[in-house]
Amino acid sequence: MNPHDRLKEVISFQAIQAKVEEMGREIARDYQDRQLVVIGILKGAFIFMADLVRAMDIPLRVDFVRLSSYGTRAESSGRVSITKDIELDIKGKDVLVVEDIVDTGYTLKYLKELLELHNPASVRICCLIDKKERREVDIDVDYVGFDVKKGFLVGYGLDFDERYRNLKGVYHITPGYEPEGFQPSDR
Ligand code: IMP
Ligand code: MG
Repeated sequence: MNPHDRLKEVISFQAIQAKVEEMGREIARDYQDRQLVVIGILKGAFIFMADLVRAMDIPLRVDFVRLSSYGTRAESSGRVSITKDIELDIKGKDVLVVEDIVDTGYTLKYLKELLELHNPASVRICCLIDKKERREVDIDVDYVGFDVKKGFLVGYGLDFDERYRNLKGVYHITPGYEPEGFQPSDR
């Protein structure tokens, strides 16, 4: 079976491009004359981050963190740890965290609290996709590209088992034909 048969487009490349340009302009307006550090969460945010910062016509710095959460992907356990920390000094700076998708919210809650320890001037969050209905912890997302109700999504940086990150659009991946024991159906 062709693996692409189980992918259904949810957000087109054109729609993403238009939205990312719009978000970039809005964020650039909000951070004019500020000392902005944009922090991307690896790996999922790498493509969104690259497009977003190029849509922002203001001076800025970039950094990355890598986080890992325990448990299967179908059931986030809420236990998150950092495996690659920031390298820039964010004390007194305005921080914008860039995330691919917010699901239960545990990842961003953990990261925001960790970043606050460095005493930045502010911390805001920007995500491409918000799965608000699956939220388990309270976390404010300041800039949202698209709201999606449910389903496991791949493409534009998002992976399923490390694949599909390079797809230009965002796709819903249909369950079935997965490695044993893996159930992405309810995400
Ligand atoms: P949270 O901590 O439950 O909010 O999980 C967020 C993380 O889970 C994201 O950074 C993604 O890496 C991953 N994730 C959640 N939903 C999806 C999805 O539909 N596709 C791919 N990754 C997802
Ligand atoms: Mg991620």
